[in-house]
Amino acid sequence: MSLTYESHGHAALHLARAASLAPSPHNSQPWSFVEEGHDQGFQLHLDDARRMPLTDPGGREAVIACGAALFNVRLAVRRMGFRPAVDLLPDPGHPTCLARVGYGIHAPATCEEARLAAVMPQRHTHRGPFTDGPVPDPVLDELRAAALAEGIALQLVDEPETLRLLAGLVRVGEEAHRTDIRHAAELRRYVGPYGIPAQACRNHPDGTLLVGRDYLRQAPWRYVRRPERWSPRTGTVALLTSRHDSRQDWLRSGQALQRLLLHAAGHQVMAAFHTQPLELPALRTRIRTLITGGQYPQVILRLGRTTELWRTPRLRAADLLTRADASSRWWP
Ligand SMILES: Cc1cc2nc3c(=O)[nH]c(=O)nc-3n(C[C@H](O)[C@H](O)[C@H](O)COP(=O)(O)O)c2cc1C
Repeated sequence: MSLTYESHGHAALHLARAASLAPSPHNSQPWSFVEEGHDQGFQLHLDDARRMPLTDPGGREAVIACGAALFNVRLAVRRMGFRPAVDLLPDPGHPTCLARVGYGIHAPATCEEARLAAVMPQRHTHRGPFTDGPVPDPVLDELRAAALAEGIALQLVDEPETLRLLAGLVRVGEEAHRTDIRHAAELRRYVGPYGIPAQACRNHPDGTLLVGRDYLRQAPWRYVRRPERWSPRTGTVALLTSRHDSRQDWLRSGQALQRLLLHAAGHQVMAAFHTQPLELPALRTRIRTLITGGQYPQVILRLGRTTELWRTPRLRAADLLTRADASSRWWP
């Protein structure tokens, strides 16, 4: 059982706000938080009611988003001067409790941690062509190392044949979504003041080599660009892959995703997501066998620089936070 108080501890609110800045599929924000009394700990829960039933029936993408939120919580705890003590999936009896973060020993944040925490509010998702060419190699090396630090591989797709193959599979996935009326209706629900602002989708989804999600199928006012073949404005294409495909792997993938996105944002590099084929089991298997050498593809990204900035709103952190009753340990 849990109690919702009028006010929360400052530390818990700070962590909930940091978590809420994470990316999530269509800004669905499929998370909630529990504050354990007297700064004992902070729990991250999957809010299954905000998972998209058609796009993400198994909850893989929702858990990845929660993993990204968890990375922000870890970083915020470091910024407060403590080492986070993280327990993934701490209670098998309560599978929606994805992580518990306790406050470990006191240790000031490093310069790099402070830098990553500072860019947290600046990171945002891009849609459409980038302004520049591919991301410089030293930055890519840094992003690869960031993902690897979470046990996840960042595979660059720069060989033209493989890039064409991946672009084709993204297109097949996107076409399947566009022609499915129920799926299109599910997507439409996420465009607007509480999901993704329409302005953030104004670039035509077919304007890059990897086609984008068609959030505004009927909107007459969006920019219309011809589909490009390979163009430097596609940016750098990359996949996050894991060795296995359990919920733990999804949580690790989410943490790796956020870690690399923050490193990228520190270099003014933003990401566009193209996860459509990973939502269809047959296409995901094809990517796994033909492109990622048997590793499980978790996220498909384009990375590059952009001058466009559209902020997506977030639910109020205080509304997502409850306080654990003293007699209960994990659950609200
Ligand atoms: C697992 C996952 C899949 C996503 N898939 C897409 C996608 O296919 N197309 C897209 O435009 N954005 C995608 N996004 C990005 C979200 O739309 C974005 O994070 C959300 O709208 C919040 O905006 P922000 O990242 O700018 O804060 C995805 C995010 C996650 C975590």
